[in-house]
Amino acid sequence: MISGNNILKGKHIVLGISGGIAAYKSAYLLRELIKRGAEVQVVITPNGKEFITPATLAALSGKPVVSEFFAANTGEWHSHVDLGLWADLMIIAPATASTIGKMANGIADNMLITTYLSAKEQVMVAPAMDLDMWAHPSTQRNVETLRRDGVIIVEPQSGFLASGLTGKGRMAEPHTIAEEAEAYFNNREERKDMHGMRVLISAGPTYESIDPVRFIGNWSSGKMGFAIADACAARGAQVTLVAGPVDGSLKLDSRVKRIDVRTAREMLAAMENEFRSCDIAVLAAAVADYAPETISDCKIKREKSGDILLKLVKNPDIAATLGACKGGRKLVGFALETDNEIVNAKDKIRRKNLDMIVLNSLKDPGAGMMTDTNKITIILADGREIPFPLKNKKEVAGDIADAIVTLI
Ligand code: C5P
Repeated sequence: MISGNNILKGKHIVLGISGGIAAYKSAYLLRELIKRGAEVQVVITPNGKEFITPATLAALSGKPVVSEFFAANTGEWHSHVDLGLWADLMIIAPATASTIGKMANGIADNMLITTYLSAKEQVMVAPAMDLDMWAHPSTQRNVETLRRDGVIIVEPQSGFLASGLTGKGRMAEPHTIAEEAEAYFNNREERKDMHGMRVLISAGPTYESIDPVRFIGNWSSGKMGFAIADACAARGAQVTLVAGPVDGSLKLDSRVKRIDVRTAREMLAAMENEFRSCDIAVLAAAVADYAPETISDCKIKREKSGDILLKLVKNPDIAATLGACKGGRKLVGFALETDNEIVNAKDKIRRKNLDMIVLNSLKDPGAGMMTDTNKITIILADGREIPFPLKNKKEVAGDIADAIVTLI
């Protein structure tokens, strides 16, 4: 992460403050943002004003604080739409359980929430609440909704629960939040650190035909592989994506060359062909391990058959096949494990001759095939393990792209 590089200079940030005891820390956050060159407009909820005075915030930001829909003295209407358009980033810190719940459900009963609903650019939330409130399923559900809506969550810090166990809930420190803001802009400014790199990616499931109307498939959505393709293209790479059958509405950067396939064998053929002219291949597809030995020419009819026995034969392992002839190219695999995750993933690196593996465990809620979020650990061939928190797949793709750059 590049830090202290003036990335916040001139950026428009709306700082939303809701009514939690951590609101006093918002003054420090405001100072951090201003110090780093940002222009900050504060929006505070009615409850927020019980914890910190608008006078303090106005003095620090050099702008009147917005709180009500109408200015008290002039009756002038404060436009949340204008504020939402003005902002390059909206940071809500502290975000109470109530504010998070309103955001997740669009309950726009104050200026902060209306501004959130009008925000066109990225929103970042730093939750702050009692540890038990944070752990409550309702809060966790709302946070999950925000994540799915693309909001960046700045994880709260740990503390002790009433039960004596540890839990999270305390707001992240102001400098951590400011660094997250910097990291966001650093990632957004299209870094061209993959310029000239030729990246081949596989994504989605494969379908193995049983007869003309039936197949064996899996629940892979292809979202992770598509997000990696987008991330690499944005950073200047020349990207080819070999996609299994995915939802037709999945969007893809127009700079990416896309090849659609259906079966594991078709995917292997396309990958082998493209592998020749790439520098790195990222195998994010969930390839079927087995396919029916024979495909019936006609639809298998119920009336004619009793129970049927489907003989499955092993599909080629694309990763291992490419690994065996990779020469100077780099190979990145994925592992979705249910047990002994790290050991299995490291074994896979060795067996398939990979340089790096992205591990997601099915044990982690929000990680895996059908979600919009993922929680990964990157494992390198030298044994290094880099764990990441739960993030949306776009952010995860950025982390994977960062790791890819270090491989080349
Ligand atoms: O062995 P396993 O299926 O867990 O390995 C997962 C990794 O291998 C993924 O990167 C996946 O894309 C790749 N793979 C493959 N061909 C297969 C099976 C898996 O390329 N037949």
